[in-house]
Amino acid sequence: MKTTKDFKQMKMDNEPIAMVTAYDYPAGKLAEQAGMDILLVGDSLGMVALGYESTVNVTLEDMILHTRAVRRGAKDTFVVTDMPFMTYHATVSETLYHAKRLIQEGGAHAVKVEGSGIVIEMIEHLTGAGVPVVGHLGLTPQSVGVLGGYKVQGKTEEEGNKLIEDAKAVEQAGAFAVVLECVPWQLAEAVTEQLSIPTIGIGAGPKTNGQVLVYHDVIDYGVDRVSKFVKQYAHISDDIVNGLKGYVQDVRQKTFPQLEHSFKTKQFTSQTK
Ligand code: KIV
Ligand code: NA
Repeated sequence: MKTTKDFKQMKMDNEPIAMVTAYDYPAGKLAEQAGMDILLVGDSLGMVALGYESTVNVTLEDMILHTRAVRRGAKDTFVVTDMPFMTYHATVSETLYHAKRLIQEGGAHAVKVEGSGIVIEMIEHLTGAGVPVVGHLGLTPQSVGVLGGYKVQGKTEEEGNKLIEDAKAVEQAGAFAVVLECVPWQLAEAVTEQLSIPTIGIGAGPKTNGQVLVYHDVIDYGVDRVSKFVKQYAHISDDIVNGLKGYVQDVRQKTFPQLEHSFKTKQFTSQTK
């Protein structure tokens, strides 16, 4: 299993970091088989796997449950879990307690937190307590209500400079990596050059130290709409629907199950045939 030290080294060696989300046992297992460097139990779980409108409905209990499932599937891969909406803002002790639960009960190796401001302080306290932290800047979906939608961030010089300063503060506070979501690639490149911790981009262009995508987007698995920044490497929704249709048809035509799918006994010989 790669560790935080390896991820920093990978940046120094200019070796890209491959990261994907996972929300359950099979996803953890298959992503590990594919050789992923990091798994993210993202709170995108709420939208992608639970069907909520946004990530703000996701609870700490949800994240614990799904992190446990992912860890059972991926026993040898570094797992980062999102701290959900408003679980790392109110007080330091609340923040530390929530991170402790994600690590002890969920089995997360690290946590991810969105934003700057008060969150910078929380990153300091978390890393001070021994919790590896990933920052998350740019489009921060837990703030969708404040941002007014899912839009590209940091397009103006002012916004871009603010993001660079925030990224430096995240690094300074002790985070071992930072996710940059939906920012112009030139800004992501500037941040990547100015930080010594790895940047991991989603919708942030080719110049970051790593990439992260949502599992369901990568394989086209039951997604409603696909963002411009996504590349789909498989289309398993089609396979799933076709497979399920075949099963429905066989049941209705009584062509499944056959005796080869059935158990037998010497008793109870049918009288009707
Ligand atoms: O929840 C998530 O999937 C994320 C990624 C988009 C980085 O936070
Ligand atoms: Na997230």
